[in-house]
Amino acid sequence: MNESASKLTRPRDTGGRRGVLLALGGLSLAWLGALVYPIYRFLSPPSSANPFGATGKAKVDKITPADVARPGQGKNGGYAGRGLIVLRGEDGTLRAFDAKCSHAGCNVSFEGSRIHCPCHGGIYDLTGKNVSGPPPRPLTALRVVEENGELYVSRADAEAGS
Ligand code: FES
Repeated sequence: MNESASKLTRPRDTGGRRGVLLALGGLSLAWLGALVYPIYRFLSPPSSANPFGATGKAKVDKITPADVARPGQGKNGGYAGRGLIVLRGEDGTLRAFDAKCSHAGCNVSFEGSRIHCPCHGGIYDLTGKNVSGPPPRPLTALRVVEENGELYVSRADAEAGS
């Protein structure tokens, strides 16, 4: 008797309303996820994966040994998805720097007699030392070597041949 009485008081379309509400809730969650995920990815810190991998070195992209053969030559390129500057100083020394500015992380550019950051006007000399503007530290120096006609970079403190 109790069971039949409860059937009489329950509205008939509860299941249909519940389905509509569940579908709307699911759509709202999907919409919210599509909105929030790109913002999360933008704000999350970059991967700290080792750019030099198991070999301890990374191939230089877009810069050949011929590009930096003579004193005073330099060029922007990359390694492992990061920006890079390779230059040959007036003393003939081949140098490489990660192109990430020490101020706020913009990519700096080789400009002949200096290295310039376009974001806030920071200036570095050709040894990577910060000499003007807001950058608080020198650029990160990398070790650069030529092997079989290609350039490779590794950590500046890496052992030769590793
Ligand atoms: Fe380079 Fe600010 S990010 S000067």
